[in-house]
Amino acid sequence: TAGTATAVAHPNIALVKYWGKRDERLVLPRTDSLSMTLDVFPTTTRVRLDPGAGQDTVILDGAPAKGEAQRRVTAFLDLVRERAGMSLRAVVDSRNTVPTGAGLASSASGFAALAVAAAAAYGLRLDPAGLSRLARRGSGSASRSVFGRFAVWHAGDADATPRDADLGSYAEPVPADLDPALVIAVVHAGPKSVSSRAAMRHTVATSPLYAAWAAAAGDDLAGMRAALARGDLDAVGRIAEHNALGMHATMLAARPAVRYLSPASVTVLDRVLELRQDKVAAYATMDAGPNVKVLCSRADAERVADAVREAAPGSRVVVAGPGPGARLLHGG
Ligand code: DP6
Repeated sequence: TAGTATAVAHPNIALVKYWGKRDERLVLPRTDSLSMTLDVFPTTTRVRLDPGAGQDTVILDGAPAKGEAQRRVTAFLDLVRERAGMSLRAVVDSRNTVPTGAGLASSASGFAALAVAAAAAYGLRLDPAGLSRLARRGSGSASRSVFGRFAVWHAGDADATPRDADLGSYAEPVPADLDPALVIAVVHAGPKSVSSRAAMRHTVATSPLYAAWAAAAGDDLAGMRAALARGDLDAVGRIAEHNALGMHATMLAARPAVRYLSPASVTVLDRVLELRQDKVAAYATMDAGPNVKVLCSRADAERVADAVREAAPGSRVVVAGPGPGARLLHGG
């Protein structure tokens, strides 16, 4: 059963954001979140058990991982080994097609692919919710990349015992009568200034606006679910945009402030407003980086992509759509 396994997963972009944990060790969020898994930028990860090795080997994009990345992958494999009742070390070889650390959620595709491949290599039999819980321990947003199209990640019961809280926090698919485009403006592909992990911790600890944003998450989620179910792109976009701008407002109010948006990001946001004045349904969302993702219909995608290219010269613009969930390619 055990041995070598390879899995592929895609990043996801949250339309109702995850920003803030209630438990760092278990990666339990303070709020529910909802995302669209993309059909671009897959991560492919192979896990091979390595009998006799005294430690894990982690290769990211062809180079040995160091520091924090190496530590996070090893801690994740420790969790898998504990559940499998095995102690064998592994060789992990992971290839991203998205710039790592650029706010394009490579940790989501990375840990979703690692969860699927490592579970198979170590012979753990997990259902999709179980894989989502496992991926969550690597990176919260990875819990959602286990599923394709639209997925909600349940925060779970805040008053539960640690064991029940872990069981209650996983992602699952959300019905949607919508097939939108997401136009991604990669305005700067360098590594981000502060990791989302550190920035969300700092925001929860110091931002007086955080509580208000988190308190509105329930309404945003209910509105988003209803809008997706009826295929209402305008409502989906409006909610996604105010939820994302609200998240960035909580960061700007942190002490000291965390600011991910650059002048180019703001220029793209202005262009999105102009598109709406021209009766194009286009709405922006931004994560822990300067890139802006614009939600629109498939029919408007090229027009929106041209507008974004013009607004942010030199940026790479990619048109994505809803993509597949994480899956095993070989092995297990
Ligand atoms: C802004 O999932 O990267 O993209 O759980 O600490 O690994 P960790 O954080 P991560 O945070 C993602 C934050 C976000 C919003 C989102 O994807 O919901």
